[in-house]
Amino acid sequence: MKTQITKKLLLSSLIFTGLICANSAFAQNAQLPSTAIQAPVKNLQQNMKELGSIFKALSTAMNDPAQNAESAKQASRLVDIFKLTINQVPDSIDLFPINEQTQALEDYKKLSQNQIDLAEKLSAAFTANDNTGAALIMTQMNDTKKEGHTKYK
Ligand code: HEM
Repeated sequence: MKTQITKKLLLSSLIFTGLICANSAFAQNAQLPSTAIQAPVKNLQQNMKELGSIFKALSTAMNDPAQNAESAKQASRLVDIFKLTINQVPDSIDLFPINEQTQALEDYKKLSQNQIDLAEKLSAAFTANDNTGAALIMTQMNDTKKEGHTKYK
């Protein structure tokens, strides 16, 4: 009888401790958003601005094989940024007739996906030290850029 009571006491104190721990772990998680350092979220225009300066730098660096390792990294950065902009809606979508807006947004995403694919190829070309291939991809990216800007900027 006595051992049973001791066991019950031990079990309840274990459950109690467990609850306290779980609660404090939850409390820590609940605090995360306000205490964690978060990078500021950039809007479409700010992301495009960054794309612009990387693309400009790459258009010079692409002719210098000594910079290929760094150029491959910068091209990967283009991939990362286009993966953000593909989910950002240009203000100009509102200017399309209401019944064309869904299609316009779909086309915008397709063009952005093209750009992601090209930037991935660009990075691979620099890694393979294929500067001729890289130059060709840069031209294709520039054409896609022009199309994107004509339609949505
Ligand atoms: C290499 C490719 C590209 C580069 C370097 C580039 C660069 C830029 C730059 C420098 C701006 C002006 C940002 C500012 O106002 O400070 C801009 C704006 C814009 N671009 Fe691009 N772009 C590229 C591709 C594209 C593509 C493929 C699309 C569409 C699918 C696109 C859509 C837009 C839109 C909608 C804006 C206006 C954003 C706003 O002001 O809210 N761009 N881009």
